[in-house]
Amino acid sequence: MKKNDMQKYLSEVAKNTTPYQWEEGVSGKSLRFDTNTLPFPPECVDDFLVNLENNCPINEYADPAYTKLKQLIAKYEFVESEMITITNSGDEAIDILAKTFLDPGDCFITAPPTYEMFSIQCEINRGVMLPVPLKKETWEVDSKEIIKKSRQPKVKLIFLVNPNNPTASIIPEETVENIVNKSDAVVVVDEVYREFYGKSAVPLLKKYKNLVILRSFSKFAALAGARIGYLIADKKLSEKFDAIRFPMGVSFLSYKLAETVLEKNKSWINQQVTMIIRERERLTKELTKLGLYVYPSFANFLLVKIANASIICRKLKQKNIILRDRSSKKYLENCVRITVRSPGENDQLLKKLKEIL
Ligand SMILES: Cc1ncc(COP(=O)(O)O)c(C=O)c1O
Repeated sequence: MKKNDMQKYLSEVAKNTTPYQWEEGVSGKSLRFDTNTLPFPPECVDDFLVNLENNCPINEYADPAYTKLKQLIAKYEFVESEMITITNSGDEAIDILAKTFLDPGDCFITAPPTYEMFSIQCEINRGVMLPVPLKKETWEVDSKEIIKKSRQPKVKLIFLVNPNNPTASIIPEETVENIVNKSDAVVVVDEVYREFYGKSAVPLLKKYKNLVILRSFSKFAALAGARIGYLIADKKLSEKFDAIRFPMGVSFLSYKLAETVLEKNKSWINQQVTMIIRERERLTKELTKLGLYVYPSFANFLLVKIANASIICRKLKQKNIILRDRSSKKYLENCVRITVRSPGENDQLLKKLKEIL
C-alpha cells in the first residue's frame, strides 16, 4: 500500500484536524503553571482508594444513570437532579452540545480569546464559528453584537465563559441575562472556574429554557485526571443530552470519586478556593512589582503581559517551571497564562522568574 493511500478515506473534517496542543517534553520534576489545576488532590482520595480495595465491582457497568452523583450535584447546585447530565469531562460536554444542536453548516458564536475546545469540538461536528471578539484590554463581551449575530439564520449556539479562560475576566450577571433573554439561540455559560469568582447563572435556569450551564470537576474539585463534568439545563433538554451522551461514558472509578468528593470534601474545596484566591492577590502584587502587567483575575490563573514572553517561558522551562505561552495567539500578543498554585510553589515561580528577569 502506498504511503498516502489512507488519505482518500478521511472525512474533510479529519483531514483538517490536528491534535490538541499540550506542552511537550515536560520533565516529571516540573511545576506546572500551565494547566489551571489545583495544587493538591482532594483529601479523600487515599481513603477512597483503600475502600476501593475492599469493594470494587469493576466487572459490572454499575449505574449508567449516575443516580447518586446527580443527586449530590443537584444539592450542590440547588437544582433538581433531572436537570443534570453527567459527562466524561467538560470537553465531552462541549461535544454533546455540538451534537445536540448543530447540523452541518449551522453556526455557533464564541467570544475570543477564549477556550479553544468550543471551536474544535463544534467544527468536528460540522459547525461554523462566528467569532465576536471581546473588547480589547478590558475583555468585556460585546453583548449587542452577540445578540445581533444570534439572529442570523443558522445560528444555534452561543458560548460564554464566566470567568473566561485565558483572560480570567468575568461577564456581569445582567449582561449574561440580557444575552440569554434577547438572543435567538441556546446560550451555554461555561462556569468551570465559578468557585474562584463566586457568582453563577444557575438561578436564571428558572426563567430561561435556552440556557445551559457547563461544569467540570477538573478545577474546583481537583479531579482533572478523573475526567468528570456535567451540564445543567431544562429537564426536557437534559433528556436529549442523556440520549446523545455515551450510555456509560464515565468510568465507575471516576464517578464514585466525584461522589466521595462532594460527600466528604466540600469544606476542603472551600479551603482550597480561599487559599487560591489569597495567593492570586499575592502573586498579582509580586508580579506587578516585577514590572509585569497582570490583568484583573477572577479565576485560579492570571493573564500576564510580559516582553519576550516565549523566551521567558523557554528559560523557565529549563528551570522546571512551565507557563502557558499564549503570545503567538491572536488577541494575546505578549501574554502568558499562569496558574495560581500553593504558596511555596508560587514562591518558587517568583524566585526563578526574578533570576531570569
Ligand atoms: C473554560 C474551560 N471549559 C472547559 C474546560 C474543560 O475541562 P475538562 O475537560 O478538564 O473537564 C476547561 C479546561 O481547561 C476550560 O478552561
